[in-house]
Amino acid sequence: MAKVYRPADLAINGGKPVHTRPWRTGVFHFAEELVALEELLSGPALPLARGRAVMAYRQELQELYGMKYAVPTSSGSTAIHVGLFAAGVGAGDEVIVSPLTDYGSIMGIFQLNAIPVFADVQSDGLLMDLKSVAEKITAHTRVIMPVHNGGYAVDMAGIMKLARKHRLMVLEDCAQSHLASLKGKYLGTFGHLGAWSTNESKHMKSGEGGFLLTNDRKMAELADLFSDKCYPRFPGAPPTPAFPALNVRLSDVNAALARVQLRRLPKWTAQRQAFGQAFFEGIAGVPGIKSQPQPKGALPSFWWALFVVDQKVLGVDAGRFCEMVKKEGIPCAAGPQRYVPAWEVFRTLNRNPKAFRAYRPGRLRKGFYPLEVAPNAQSAGERLAVVNLTQHNTVGEARAAAKAVRKVVGALLGKAQ
Ligand SMILES: Cc1ncc(COP(=O)(O)O)c(C=O)c1O
Repeated sequence: MAKVYRPADLAINGGKPVHTRPWRTGVFHFAEELVALEELLSGPALPLARGRAVMAYRQELQELYGMKYAVPTSSGSTAIHVGLFAAGVGAGDEVIVSPLTDYGSIMGIFQLNAIPVFADVQSDGLLMDLKSVAEKITAHTRVIMPVHNGGYAVDMAGIMKLARKHRLMVLEDCAQSHLASLKGKYLGTFGHLGAWSTNESKHMKSGEGGFLLTNDRKMAELADLFSDKCYPRFPGAPPTPAFPALNVRLSDVNAALARVQLRRLPKWTAQRQAFGQAFFEGIAGVPGIKSQPQPKGALPSFWWALFVVDQKVLGVDAGRFCEMVKKEGIPCAAGPQRYVPAWEVFRTLNRNPKAFRAYRPGRLRKGFYPLEVAPNAQSAGERLAVVNLTQHNTVGEARAAAKAVRKVVGALLGKAQ
């Protein structure tokens, strides 16, 4: 029989916490990475472009994801920037993106003088809502950028259907969703392009870094040229720089680290998935708590374990709920992703579309970014909560997290859970 907890039993009220040991962590880098660096440093001067480590990394990415072309870049943000260029985005074009994301999803749009257009998120989740995406399509839309937040899958069948209907390009932002899949196919391989980050916080880490995958040779070549000064470094490249470009290559040093991490990524993802499975099994059927809706056949890679708190049922919002779960010894946080339209840059552009001399999209008009442009996203912090995890966290900890959630719900409702 499940125990009936009273409010006085909650750790926040002085009761005994569910989980008293420190949340597990551990090392994220390995001797193998040191060996790879030593090997690199004992050779000739570190290469500036297309070094051995970078070229081997390309091959390994292509093999793991089953994609024809990989273009490693200096970060996830630059992978997106380069991908948008390869997709043909230019001044005044509109790119549909999530209002709950990292600035990395947005920066490349600005840099190309294109216009970020926010589709709202689901009323019961964190991901871009298909209906809102459809409503935001105009004659100026060029790209839809589904953001697979937290390792969860946006409905890619729906996105691709819309893209086909309106002849749009799709660039999947997979910065937080390494090796997450949908019906056995990795996220990032559904659209025309996929972009990943390998920064410190991601499933695999190479200090800084990112990569772009595509099956389209033309786009892969454009991405290669745009990210590498448009210099002629592969057969068929123009003999002199033929268009404005950047230098946002991945260095061989970062590639050497990323290669080691990539080999371990499948195991780490499986560990995160074991955590996710145990946590969601543990909270199944608990009143007032739901998991992030997912398309059929989705296997998230749990950058976090996300759940939705129903204030109407529980009488508290996600913020208060998380405070209580946190006191039970579980790293729980509300509002996992900030509301981008509230950022100073968008408030300024809303007042004055010509505020920044380096940003001239041409068609942007005053009032294009009202604060309430995406109401579900704006209020998401009241509903959404996550349990933070890495590959070091165990199924036992996932069960403890689920127990803490059940305990708090039980105490709030006065019923055993
Ligand atoms: C959803 C999302 N997109 C893009 C990025 C940008 O990646 P990076 O920090 O490597 O530039 C991040 C990184 O935090 C992210 O979480």
